[in-house]
Amino acid sequence: MKEHLEKQLETSKEFIENLPWENEDFYADYLAQTYYFVCHSTRLLGRSLSYFHVNDKDDLYKRFKDHISDEDNHEKIALSDLKKLGREIDSYKKYAITSAFYESQYFKIEQSKGTALLGYILYLEAIAIHCFPNVVGRLFETYGRQKSQFLKVHVEEDPSHVDKALEEIAKLSEPEQKEIWDNFFQTADLYHLVLRQVQENAQLFAEKHAA
Ligand SMILES: [Fe+2]
Repeated sequence: MKEHLEKQLETSKEFIENLPWENEDFYADYLAQTYYFVCHSTRLLGRSLSYFHVNDKDDLYKRFKDHISDEDNHEKIALSDLKKLGREIDSYKKYAITSAFYESQYFKIEQSKGTALLGYILYLEAIAIHCFPNVVGRLFETYGRQKSQFLKVHVEEDPSHVDKALEEIAKLSEPEQKEIWDNFFQTADLYHLVLRQVQENAQLFAEKHAA
């Protein structure tokens, strides 16, 4: 599975780096949509945790529990970057695709008894480390470090997290692994669609104002 993961990350990296990060309307809406789905990260982890029973999924329990502390308040960093750009979250609509992105996780958690969420987490952790470092450099140059804290914090995450997640996945049953990988690739596709929608809206806005 590692080669599929690497191939997906390569595709995502190319896609992400080709987005117009220097366009402030694009970047601000990216932060707004990110805020909307990151608000659910700790809640999703909490929902999964309740399924991991003592002496059964102890490793996953510990991982998800620690991750809740790591993730706590991360949505506030995205919100703060947005504010520093002089924008208010209330003026940003949450796209249907953004809702679909995180709402589907609640369903998958119920269906898989918590484990499938690992695919969602793994994708988001892996792209931060592998796909966003060059983008962060561009954001620093365009907006300054203070307005790029959300991505800065995430690209600096420990790369060993991804390897550890892979080890934990390998210990699970075949059907559980399949659920996780299905979710990993679904998350990748939906994440691309969220970003595509943000890009389209920034383009429409620019065309309207140029006319
Ligand atoms: Fe985070």
